[in-house]
Amino acid sequence: MTARKAATPKQKTSEDTRIPLRITDTTLRDAHQSLWATRMRTKDIMGIIDTIDQAGYYSLEVWGGATFDVCLRFLRENPWERLRLIKSRAPKTPLQMLLRGQNIVGYKNYPDDVLDRFVELSCRNGVDIFRIFDALNDVRNMEQAIRSVKRYGGHAQGAISYTISPVHTVEKYVEVAKALEALEVDSIVIKDMAGILSPIAAERLVSALVRETRVPIQLHTHATSGMGTATYVEGVRAGAGAIDCAISVMSSRSSQPPVETMMAIFKETDYHANLDTDCLRKICRYFEELAPKRTSKNMPINPIDPDILLHHIPGGMISNLHSQLAQQNALDRLSDVLEELPRTRADMGYPPLVTPTSQIVGIQSVLNVLAGERYAMIPEETRNYVKGQYGRPPAPIDKKLAATVLGKEKPITCRPADMLAPMLPTATDGVPAGLIESEEDVISYCIFPEVALEYFKWRAMPTEERPDPPVVQERQEEEKQAQQPAPATEVQRLLSNEDYRELSELASRIAALQLNEFTIRRNDLTLSLRGNGVEIGADIATPLPSGQALAAATSAATPAPKPAAVPEPAAMEGTPVPAPLNGTFYISPGPGKPEFVKEGDTVKPGDTLCIVEAMKLFNQIKAPVGGTVVRILPKHGEAVQKGQAMILIG
Ligand code: CO
Repeated sequence: MTARKAATPKQKTSEDTRIPLRITDTTLRDAHQSLWATRMRTKDIMGIIDTIDQAGYYSLEVWGGATFDVCLRFLRENPWERLRLIKSRAPKTPLQMLLRGQNIVGYKNYPDDVLDRFVELSCRNGVDIFRIFDALNDVRNMEQAIRSVKRYGGHAQGAISYTISPVHTVEKYVEVAKALEALEVDSIVIKDMAGILSPIAAERLVSALVRETRVPIQLHTHATSGMGTATYVEGVRAGAGAIDCAISVMSSRSSQPPVETMMAIFKETDYHANLDTDCLRKICRYFEELAPKRTSKNMPINPIDPDILLHHIPGGMISNLHSQLAQQNALDRLSDVLEELPRTRADMGYPPLVTPTSQIVGIQSVLNVLAGERYAMIPEETRNYVKGQYGRPPAPIDKKLAATVLGKEKPITCRPADMLAPMLPTATDGVPAGLIESEEDVISYCIFPEVALEYFKWRAMPTEERPDPPVVQERQEEEKQAQQPAPATEVQRLLSNEDYRELSELASRIAALQLNEFTIRRNDLTLSLRGNGVEIGADIATPLPSGQALAAATSAATPAPKPAAVPEPAAMEGTPVPAPLNGTFYISPGPGKPEFVKEGDTVKPGDTLCIVEAMKLFNQIKAPVGGTVVRILPKHGEAVQKGQAMILIG
């Protein structure tokens, strides 16, 4: 394949003395990742790709980021096949992908051999421009990616992940840019994933980068705060030669600024984007028709998120926090989490909030709030972060946090991927024969083993026997819920009710004692348990979204009589070890692995007893006291509720 450098566009009329402005279209990647939770299908793309290819864009961002994972996991599509199809119908415009440096398109570091092969195959299948970023701006995590892209003839664009913090100064960003330039990147992009780069800050930053480096500068922002269009104007006037836009109907909100608007603004300036407006109109109409089928019904009413100007937390992250708290029946703690998050981020050395640091900081903040004590629960990902396994944080990690995690251990100081052994030689050893069809499959499997394997099995079925992809079921579920908004609202109201939470916690504890029947009352709520079901109030409404055997409804205002006798935990056969969160109980670390403990075992305080998986993270549960494991109550893989006794130590 041929390398394409950042060059002036081909169309340049003879009388045109204006400065060319390059526009990257993000409609087929970032825009739908931001607005549709990445649910655009390949067939959606194929219906309009020819027109997009004709529009005169500098490049099309069509791949990478979350699209790889979502294709396999939710759409049951082969991401490589998507790329090949796009390339076959968009031969004119360079294709671009978002590469997470050493994290490739996943959430952790992969060894160099996997990254190198990934880049080689991406080039071969159609990617021309690789936008490479690292969540910590640790250039060591981008080195191998840049080297591989150049080796296979691609355009390596180094990204600066933009954030606001006491340690993120213009000088610091210039340092990162210079380090990228030393690695011979073909261009540099300022990646403002949260949409918090103000026009004035853009002007300062771009001017500094133009002055201090010789590499073409591109700007990437999101419209979340409403500043995006002004930011582009100032950035371009300061010397950025390229900007990222989306077609209007796929733009704005948490997506990019609209391309039509930017065209109109720059028309009166010396800059010249030269896009075909007829094409843009066609593209806009196409997505206008498609959008209602792909948009979530829960889109916020306000097109601007004014809060982001205060807390600087990306929109996608807030919706993740929302769903994590919902899983924990703790939606009422959202404001506490938003207050905690800047503190956790400061403790962790002010990482920019982008995959994967956004997940790590987000979940640690949720745990800090839910546990009632900061860093009482620290998932594996936070530990690895503090150990330096994600790279060098922008500022030193808080001493107390570092001491809690590391003890006497020292954090690593080398390039994190130097610690990883090559993976390709034995990568697919455990995969049943016949499921892997290509070299690309091997790479998909290296990055997302469980998800890829499920996809391979699904693909291997005869077409008529394949179950609907998860995305179809998801959509049906959403439509069903939209038809019955009242009970869902009621459940939400109950979830934010203190009494309700106390009662349901109590209920799960009692359920763990395997009593068959009881009723308790608190203020105007009554709660009764019969068999496996828990009812609150007089009528039963919708089961909770978590699918637990817990049903809720408003109570008829009954006078509160004395609570029925509830056995105290002390009446149990030992010290109960409660689940710290709603989640899934595991007695062993994985299939075929031995249990942490069995009934009758002796344990010391601090020994690992089990795992509770919550919010996609694995929390090891340690023994609070020493003694004998008297009983293990839930089964391996069973759902547990916060506060429910899991293990009794006598
Ligand atoms: Co973005």
